[in-house]
Amino acid sequence: MSAHRSEGHHLDYELVRSFWEEAAHDAESASYMAHEQGLPRDCIEHRFALERVVIDRWFAGLGPTASVLDVGCGAGAWTELFAQRYGRIVGVDASAGMLAAARRRLDGQRNVELVQGDALTVPLDGEFQGVLLGGLLMYLDRADAVALLVRLGQLAPNGRIILRESGIRSGVEVQTGSYQVVYRSVQEYEAVAAEAGLRVVAVERNRGYVHMEIAVALVNLARRLPPIARRDAAAVGGPLWRLLRATAPVALELVPRAIGAVGLGWPHLTNHFLLLERGTVPDGQRHRPPDAAVTPSTYIGRGHAGAAQVRRASQ
Ligand SMILES: C[S@@+](CC[C@H](N)C(=O)[O-])C[C@H]1O[C@@H](n2cnc3c(N)ncnc32)[C@H](O)[C@@H]1O
Repeated sequence: MSAHRSEGHHLDYELVRSFWEEAAHDAESASYMAHEQGLPRDCIEHRFALERVVIDRWFAGLGPTASVLDVGCGAGAWTELFAQRYGRIVGVDASAGMLAAARRRLDGQRNVELVQGDALTVPLDGEFQGVLLGGLLMYLDRADAVALLVRLGQLAPNGRIILRESGIRSGVEVQTGSYQVVYRSVQEYEAVAAEAGLRVVAVERNRGYVHMEIAVALVNLARRLPPIARRDAAAVGGPLWRLLRATAPVALELVPRAIGAVGLGWPHLTNHFLLLERGTVPDGQRHRPPDAAVTPSTYIGRGHAGAAQVRRASQ
């Protein structure tokens, strides 16, 4: 694996696809990239519960007849939640294996269509009021990320498009190797959205992801130690997660905040939600945190997410 600090390095989409086909044997954990560190179900549920708070708030205006598109739906955790609330749900995923897991999960849900295909080209019809990309643009080169957002803007001309993307604090990092991925900063995603004619209404740091990523980073560190290296990942991930949960106010909140305050970018990866709509932000209505890269914040320009305001999320 090597990392490049520019988007000049293109992703190998065949490798992206083969990664997900292989990961599909553990689809639910893989959807949340928790499979390689053997993190337990409780960790995934913890992250999902915290993420749900944001999704619920941003989709709060969607009524029971709304159509919602779940792009890169993986094992279908979000598809299932949406199916319980909205009228028509379409889940799209390029991986047959991941989609098979979603089918098992959603068996019997008559308001759900699951479609296998590339999000850029798969045929989709109808208008959507809500769109979720839960970790999808990170598997697309920049030009394709822009093209997909243009497409989604057309499919949801009056809708809310939520991105949930892992990234880094500034710039771009393209990882090549068996796990091909682009980590972009919030500012890079804002530029991608603007290029696609979408405006960023709100940005919020993903606390659930940060908690999980602390566990991921610690498991990776522990497994470099010779006595632990040969042990099964779950034998490390399970106890470590239980310890982190038991000491959460310190281990998952205070310590990372202190590390951030002294300017150390740890864990390396972070994750943000971005709420997008069509159109550009009129001058003077856009609110930005002083430095979103260093001080992850929520900022809301205007519109249905609330009156014009700036909110700082807890670190
Ligand atoms: C990190 S998983 C996210 C799963 C799901 N959104 C969730 O939050 O549980 C990313 C998913 O995107 C899918 N994917 C990657 N590139 C894709 C593409 N071009 N078109 C459709 N799906 C894609 C993968 O197969 C994988 O299931």
